[in-house]
Amino acid sequence: MRGVLDVPEALVPVQGLIADSLLSVEKVFDEHLAAELPPVDQLCAHVERYRGKMLRPILVLLGALSAAPESAGLFEAGREGEIVSDELIRLAAVCEMVHMATLVHDDVLDDAELRRRGATLNHLKGNEAAVILGDYLIAGAYHLCATIGRSDLSERIGRVSMDLCAGELLQLHHRGDLSLDEPTYFEIVRRKTGTLIGVSCELGASLVNAPPETAGALYQTGMRLGVAFQIRDDLLDLTGDEQRVGKSVRKDLEKGKLTLPLVHHLGACEPMARGRALELIERGARGMSDAQERELLERLGETGSVEYAESRARALVSEAQGQIATLAPTPARSLLDALAQAVVDRAL
Ligand code: IPE
Ligand code: IPE
Ligand code: MG
Ligand code: MG
Repeated sequence: MRGVLDVPEALVPVQGLIADSLLSVEKVFDEHLAAELPPVDQLCAHVERYRGKMLRPILVLLGALSAAPESAGLFEAGREGEIVSDELIRLAAVCEMVHMATLVHDDVLDDAELRRRGATLNHLKGNEAAVILGDYLIAGAYHLCATIGRSDLSERIGRVSMDLCAGELLQLHHRGDLSLDEPTYFEIVRRKTGTLIGVSCELGASLVNAPPETAGALYQTGMRLGVAFQIRDDLLDLTGDEQRVGKSVRKDLEKGKLTLPLVHHLGACEPMARGRALELIERGARGMSDAQERELLERLGETGSVEYAESRARALVSEAQGQIATLAPTPARSLLDALAQAVVDRAL
């Protein structure tokens, strides 16, 4: 991922191409949001100041670079930069803008104060401004996508945004539901996170006219990576440190969201232990003491529930890597494989 992937020598040029392309993505992103109205531009400037890992635009670029019909030949000739068109840059910016819109709204839902090591918009400017800015971003994303002139891409972005919102709505419906089961947890995660990461992998390939089967397989690869990414994110929320992660943590319990380790624990422990775990989880919504937090983590340890969630994420990444291995052997494919690994190894 941006700045944190330690890659072998052979992958340095493609990593450099991605890094340069991301600068163009950021420029398109910022320019497209410019409203020439100081109060609006001020809010946008806040969003633009804090860049995240740029996972989705990186995947758009890597999807295109690894699936373009002529990619192996272009890499051999050192002409892979030709795959990175203006349209591809815009498409990468679209995926980041949809993501950004969902984060701005998600922070309102979660009452989060910290995002990307900075204050969230809701914390800084209130919920009203954050809601409308999220709308501005999503509208901006669709408008930018329309300028690419490919209705198939607009159709996919629109559909996936609906799936994403449906996932958040399903999650909202299950807030405080202590009997949440694994299939429902995975349904939520596939929709709220898997779809956008899947479509990021797919659409770069579609734009460069990769065969539809390849683009479809890349969607599945991204879906698996996305689900693994969210499992890891949920673990970071449960066990991570706010300073290190760079965003508010312990929000899932506070907001009554059961995540995979807790769902597993409640299904795996004895009735007495289950009663105590439910008591602690319910406390979570009102704020837990450090001792209670430690106790809950110890209890999760007794049923191997954190390891269980980690192993589910690792298995998904291995499946994704199996699919990546079927692409033409290029440096882009190798970088995609390294990135897949980073999804479960990441600490932020
Ligand atoms: C955060 O996504 C929301 C989830 C899907 C877990 P990222 O972790 O990709 O956020 P940024 O863009 O790097 O801040
Ligand atoms: C992911 O859920 C949010 C979206 C996919 C919109 P989280 O609530 O876990 O994301 P973070 O942890 O706030 O980034
Ligand atoms: Mg959140
Ligand atoms: Mg989270």
